[in-house]
Amino acid sequence: MGLLALENARLRFGGIVALDDVSLDVAEGTIAGLIGPNGAGKTTAFNVITRLYRLESGDVVFDGHSLRHTPPSRVVRMGIARTFQNVELFPTMTVLENVLVGGHAFARMKRESELRKDALDTLELVGIHMHADRPAAGLPFGTLKRIELARALASKPRLLLLDEPAGGLNHEEVGELADFIRRLRDELKLTILLVEHHMNLVMQVSDHVTVLNFGRTIASGPPAEVQRDPQVIEAYLGGELEPVA
Ligand SMILES: Nc1ncnc2c1ncn2[C@@H]1O[C@H](COP(=O)(O)OP(=O)(O)OP(=O)(O)O)[C@@H](O)[C@H]1O
Ligand SMILES: [Mg+2]
Repeated sequence: MGLLALENARLRFGGIVALDDVSLDVAEGTIAGLIGPNGAGKTTAFNVITRLYRLESGDVVFDGHSLRHTPPSRVVRMGIARTFQNVELFPTMTVLENVLVGGHAFARMKRESELRKDALDTLELVGIHMHADRPAAGLPFGTLKRIELARALASKPRLLLLDEPAGGLNHEEVGELADFIRRLRDELKLTILLVEHHMNLVMQVSDHVTVLNFGRTIASGPPAEVQRDPQVIEAYLGGELEPVA
């Protein structure tokens, strides 16, 4: 079993089956892409993994432990961090203070000076240390995305969940993001679950891709194989799924 597994996950919202018997296994040290049309259940899967939503049936298993009874606050300390589809920062706090939130979640006992140094190092890693003392509000969107990434990394995760990290980024920024995500896997040995509509990014960086449609898994395999799958092409109506350059 991989570092993370969803086992027959099922969750409904009224009449909508957001996750319909979804199983997923993410091997440690790999990048797993999770794709699918709008409303397919991707963000719901993240909310289930981070325990914001409770499954009706099935389970989430992290590092061999069921998270069925784990509160969301413990999930971070167990080594799972995430970014949000719509950037969720504290606008009046500085960039550094936002990142310190991640550090505090990881190590409440550490000295503040150590946490600050860690946070600054993390800001340097994502390339925005020059903005450390500015309030988050008013910074360009691409910078806000990097603050979120830094906050997630500051909690020293083993598993990083990225919900549409390329959303709103320009072509050059997406290229930098692809390199960065690979570095996180190769240098920091992180395991990454990547939700993204940007097909070139997903297909280029993922070791494995799972496709959801209306809460169901319709394909799962290596990127090249998934891209050729007729059900996947149909789910995307041939529009969004471009061949990888
Ligand atoms: N808290 C909620 N209450 C009611 N319905 C919800 C809730 N969260 C998600 N849903 C519904 O569950 C389904 C899956 O939503 P989800 O946000 O997981 O989709 P998604 O794959 O992330 O889509 P997108 O690509 O647009 O972000 C949708 O029909 C959505 O409306
Ligand atoms: Mg979503």
